[in-house]
Amino acid sequence: NKEFTLKVTGHEKEFLIPKDKSIIQVLKENDIFVPMSCENGVCGTCKCKIKSGEVEHKDMVLNANEHQVQKLFTPCVTRATTETLEISV
Ligand code: FES
Repeated sequence: NKEFTLKVTGHEKEFLIPKDKSIIQVLKENDIFVPMSCENGVCGTCKCKIKSGEVEHKDMVLNANEHQVQKLFTPCVTRATTETLEISV
């Protein structure tokens, strides 16, 4: 895992996602609410939208249309491959 910078649409602050924390953990620490359940990439509850940047999908629940067309990803397991990722929650 590599660290990267996360931007959340509508929030001025940028977040550093360290190697050992998921996006959803950092959002929670900063009081940005994303519904979650499994925290393991299998339920899809946490899905958010990618606005810019690239990810390596790690979930087992979203389909190709959701990944490629709707630009959805699961912040409980999926991480950025680019230095910066912007999402909307
Ligand atoms: Fe279940 Fe993220 S919380 S897929």
